[in-house]
Amino acid sequence: RLHIDIPAGLRRLPGPKPLPIIGNVLEVGSRPYLSLTAMSKRYGPVFQIQIGMRPVVVLSGSEMVRQALIKQGEDFAGRPDLYSFQFINDGKSLAFSTDQAGVWRARRKLAMSALRSFAIVEGTTPEYSCVLEEHICKEGEYLVKQLKIVMETDGSFDPFRHIVVSVANVICGMCFGRRYSHDDQELLSLVNLSDEFGQVVGSGNPADFMPILRFLPSATMKKFVDINDRFNNFVQKIVSEHYATFNKDNIRDITDSLIDHCEDRKLDENSNVQMSDEKIVGIVNDLFGAGFDTISTALSWSVMYLVAYPEIQERLYHELKDKVGLDRTPLLSDKPNLPLLDAFILELFRHSSFLPFTIPHCTTKDTSLDGYFIPKDTCVFINQWQVNHDPELWKDPSSFSPERFLSADGTELNKLEGEKVMAFGLGKRRCIGEVIARNEVFLFLAILIQRLRFRALPGEPLDMTPEYGLTMKHKRCQLKATVRQRNEE
Ligand code: HEM
Repeated sequence: RLHIDIPAGLRRLPGPKPLPIIGNVLEVGSRPYLSLTAMSKRYGPVFQIQIGMRPVVVLSGSEMVRQALIKQGEDFAGRPDLYSFQFINDGKSLAFSTDQAGVWRARRKLAMSALRSFAIVEGTTPEYSCVLEEHICKEGEYLVKQLKIVMETDGSFDPFRHIVVSVANVICGMCFGRRYSHDDQELLSLVNLSDEFGQVVGSGNPADFMPILRFLPSATMKKFVDINDRFNNFVQKIVSEHYATFNKDNIRDITDSLIDHCEDRKLDENSNVQMSDEKIVGIVNDLFGAGFDTISTALSWSVMYLVAYPEIQERLYHELKDKVGLDRTPLLSDKPNLPLLDAFILELFRHSSFLPFTIPHCTTKDTSLDGYFIPKDTCVFINQWQVNHDPELWKDPSSFSPERFLSADGTELNKLEGEKVMAFGLGKRRCIGEVIARNEVFLFLAILIQRLRFRALPGEPLDMTPEYGLTMKHKRCQLKATVRQRNEE
């Protein structure tokens, strides 16, 4: 154990004994959300492991996570300088970079206001309550059409392959003012190969902690670097086109609004935070990246759960049929009338916990939790999976049961129960796309369930084992979708 002086009155963190050089890598293994959950039972809600030579504090339990991220939010708001993070967004990522606090805060504010202006703002037609809704309804319709065509030609479909294009189109619409066809090779090769991204960035990737591993040939790492390069080039090309056609009187999308902000700032003598144009326009890279992978993963898992629980799928269809009908596309305003769908989504976030850890945090100063000393610059993992499966918090946590979020008669959503689910982090680094994400998952799912019935292929058992990463995916597979007939029961 590395030697540190513990200030008087504070204790040394508990945790497993590390081996020389590799630390606790073997105990952490390939499913850290399970191994670190098991360790929390033994060592408590705050303990320390060592990955390679580097100490990492692991937080579990709703109370402890809230204490750190909300009550002591400032102390835990940093990001560690992990090896893999330098490749993301050219080392200038809002979400992954160790950024001086002032610059990160200013960029986060800018990103939030850009999202507000181009998602939540009123749409062009009175039919839709906001631009986001307009994008999703249109993409949802395209997706249903696309799945029908694929079913007719191939007899089965790969859920992630098609969902990811539709979801990418929604965020492309907001960020870049354009959409792509389901066969566009450039977009497809970018969004359909993102698995390696999550695998490398997932909490506890040994190469982030053990310098020696960086020099060994690794196919995953090579793909990761390649994906980031391709991603940056893709966005860079679109940004250049925006610069070339920029018109201050016609701000078309988030990219334009960020360029506009750069121009304004040059005129503003009082602006006190130094941000390069690159760092401002680079925000669009973060929004695009965060905006398609997470939501497509959520939707692709949703379809898997619908297939795994056909009885719930039928009840969801009947809720839609009764409350929305079959003659029009569902809208965000239908949400209060669809408690079962809301409960299904909450249970999906809880049960799958497909973002098992937040992005790693880092302490910004010497601090303490529960009487344990934690020095400045310590890497901190937040185990969301543990919070979502904690038997102290949930009855029968391993069973998939949307009912846990409904009133006894099934007609109302229990909001307090829903707030216990941890999927978007908490506090200063909390996800800035949460409202968009929740609305998007809701609306896409409503459209899919209203129009299609999903099933497994005969004789092919469903594999629901997650593959570990920042966002955990299910294995790629083939499913069946049949069109719902209007007169069917
Ligand atoms: C950060 C979850 C969708 C933008 C995060 C974090 C989580 C998360 C767990 C890390 C929090 C932490 O480190 O403590 C999700 C989930 C989503 C989703 C589950 C979908 C189901 C989105 C969308 C956007 C977005 C649609 C933008 C359009 C961001 C950004 C950050 C972030 C920019 C970094 C914040 C920072 O470091 O200050 N998200 N997210 N996310 N998310 Fe999301």
